[in-house]
Amino acid sequence: MINLIIKTFKRYAWFKRFNAKVTYELLAKFVPAEDWHFMNYGYEPNADEAPLHLNEQVLQPYPLQMYHYLATKTALATKDVLEVGSGRGGGARYLANAMNPNSYLGIDLAQSAVDLANKLHRQSNLKFIQGSAEEIPLPDNSLDVVINVESSHCYGNVDQFLSEVKRVLRLGGYLLLVDFRNEVKNMELFQRQIRNSGLKLVQEENISKNVIAAIEAENPAKVKRIEELIPKRWQKLFSDFAGVVGSRFYNTLKNGTRVYYRFVLQKV
Ligand SMILES: C[S@@+](CC[C@H](N)C(=O)[O-])C[C@H]1O[C@@H](n2cnc3c(N)ncnc32)[C@H](O)[C@@H]1O
Repeated sequence: MINLIIKTFKRYAWFKRFNAKVTYELLAKFVPAEDWHFMNYGYEPNADEAPLHLNEQVLQPYPLQMYHYLATKTALATKDVLEVGSGRGGGARYLANAMNPNSYLGIDLAQSAVDLANKLHRQSNLKFIQGSAEEIPLPDNSLDVVINVESSHCYGNVDQFLSEVKRVLRLGGYLLLVDFRNEVKNMELFQRQIRNSGLKLVQEENISKNVIAAIEAENPAKVKRIEELIPKRWQKLFSDFAGVVGSRFYNTLKNGTRVYYRFVLQKV
């Protein structure tokens, strides 16, 4: 019943914004686990992508890989990077460390996620501030790369987000984006929005199978974490949200109703 109400209201931009704000404010506030750094569904690389060898053991290697393989689509070293929808900041911390950008700024709608990210990840080239994808609080032509991981499906106005990205990017700068849409027709709408954005489409790839493989590989660890972190009465709801094997998210991605894509766009 709740799902039906949410699905109906999600047609309205104001509700999408409200839903995202409330969900992610509450998540950071009520599940402040300091070792939970990522909120995306993860990525298993293609056979032709170089394997990632990490020096330290990471609790969520597949969500980290989502960032790593997206970021390899352009060079971040010495660049000014913005991440829109940085969540708990794990991806920002990894990229700010591993890829040596000059600066890495994460913005997120949820103030509690921003506070948590600033508390968990301290590094000289990295900071997090509250802000909206639809009104990026930065000057025109001030960035080389914008990263956007599994966040655009939450936005009230995606065209406005793409226009804001185009405004803040320097000429030649890149938008690297991964996200899903719950139905193929909604991904087709997103593809049209991308084509009409005024940014050049450099690469587009359906990565649904990579995300499915990551969900399956991470599932035992994810289920165990949910049992440890989440009160029993919320575990079912949270498992659906987290996309465990057998959840609606997983099933619809597996049967092709839902699709997950990676895009590389450039301001030319
Ligand atoms: C699924 S989480 C992904 C977080 C992070 N990218 C990751 O992979 O761990 C989506 C994030 O987008 C943020 N978000 C949603 N709508 C937003 C908006 N309009 N502006 C900025 N951030 C937004 C949410 O607060 C949340 O932190």
